[in-house]
Amino acid sequence: MKEKNILVGLDIGTTKVCTIVGTRASESDLEIIGIGTHPSHGLKKGSVVNIDKTVSSIQASLEEAKLMAGVNILQATIGIAGSHIYSFNSSGVVAIKGKEITADDVERVIEAAKAVVIPSDRQILHVIPREFRVDNTRGIKNPIGMCGVRLEAHVHVVTGSISLIQNLVKCVEQTGVSAENIVLQPIASSESVLSNEEKDMGVMLVDIGGGTTDIAVWKDGSLIHSQIIPVGGNHFTNDLAVALKVPHAEAERIKINHGCVLQESVNQSAHITVKGIAGTRPREVAINYIAKVLGARAEELFDIVKTIIADKEFEQDITGGIVLTGGGALIKSLPELGEYIIGKPTKIGYPAPFGGMTNIMQNPKFSTVMGLLIESGRHKPIEVGKEESVQVDLIGKLSDSLKSVFKEIF
Ligand SMILES: Nc1ncnc2c1ncn2[C@@H]1O[C@H](COP(=O)(O)OP(=O)(O)OP(=O)(O)O)[C@@H](O)[C@H]1O
Ligand SMILES: [Mg+2]
Repeated sequence: MKEKNILVGLDIGTTKVCTIVGTRASESDLEIIGIGTHPSHGLKKGSVVNIDKTVSSIQASLEEAKLMAGVNILQATIGIAGSHIYSFNSSGVVAIKGKEITADDVERVIEAAKAVVIPSDRQILHVIPREFRVDNTRGIKNPIGMCGVRLEAHVHVVTGSISLIQNLVKCVEQTGVSAENIVLQPIASSESVLSNEEKDMGVMLVDIGGGTTDIAVWKDGSLIHSQIIPVGGNHFTNDLAVALKVPHAEAERIKINHGCVLQESVNQSAHITVKGIAGTRPREVAINYIAKVLGARAEELFDIVKTIIADKEFEQDITGGIVLTGGGALIKSLPELGEYIIGKPTKIGYPAPFGGMTNIMQNPKFSTVMGLLIESGRHKPIEVGKEESVQVDLIGKLSDSLKSVFKEIF
């Protein structure tokens, strides 16, 4: 079996675990050769609550992908989310040592920007440069080679709970796969869904998953904010199950097949037959009522998004509007309602296609895993005649993710 130039994205979501295996002959020539999806058990709101169930869900998804790709999986780039994730903006200043700015000066200034006090139970996942300032010149993306005496870095720092990150890594490593990089899920989704133009113009990505909605705000090509909201597609399903007094599986079926969030856009006289809870007879329910229940939850979600935009003063920044992705974005009329509540152009974002079996991956629920595959490629140079190593420690992984950010920018 040949494992050279094999890239693996592993998205451990609240509703599904998805693995994609890609291979590439050159930096730009990525092809999907294996896909494995399995229902996820053992996570709640993006965090592991049951190790055994999570491990077996990951195992099942890996097996399926391995079988299809015909390769062994040794390493994977994994995504992380959950309400333990906290991010903030920070800055640092250093004096420039020589005549012009070197990579070493940039490293020092990033270290200075990182040197903020974070609680001892949290670790830094990403430090993403937003802009550099050299003396009085602002908005610099790559200061290397410039002259000056004072270098300032403005960065976006993403932190997470050490124990919850370790729980996720432990689950992956129990399947015999090492977690080569850990990437914040909305950063991964942004990679596959947003164009560079959108990131430059200013855009907010809203990834509506099962347990959480993950937000990433981009401006001038850099990430300026990320946040995890503990409301996702499962809340829509639960609301339907309670309102219609039907089992959870039936509520999920109704949401997917008949769900809509705008009462005005459904047939006002249409009804569907729903299965009641065990022992009760099937009933007729107005489609209009289903839209009312789902619409109330969608309004709540968009109100939260609107509040974030107002609190963080993103109103002028996100001229490119809102891009909804994740499986939860598929409920009918969500973009229309979002546009009405938030007052910004809103659309559904699909993962950008590349070679291989991309057609079946053209679904918003695969945005994160497709982004993880892209991230995996960024972190790994094309190998020529060398076999993959199996063990990478956690600290190594985090510094790798820092290196990749530099590569991306410079
Ligand atoms: N066609 C559809 N219409 C409406 N909702 C859908 C559809 N397909 C999937 N969903 C909903 O999308 C949600 C799952 O989305 P996704 O697969 O992106 O989540 P996840 O990655 O497993 O979870 P998370 O990102 O929160 O950890 C579920 O609530 C599911 O009901
Ligand atoms: Mg997800």
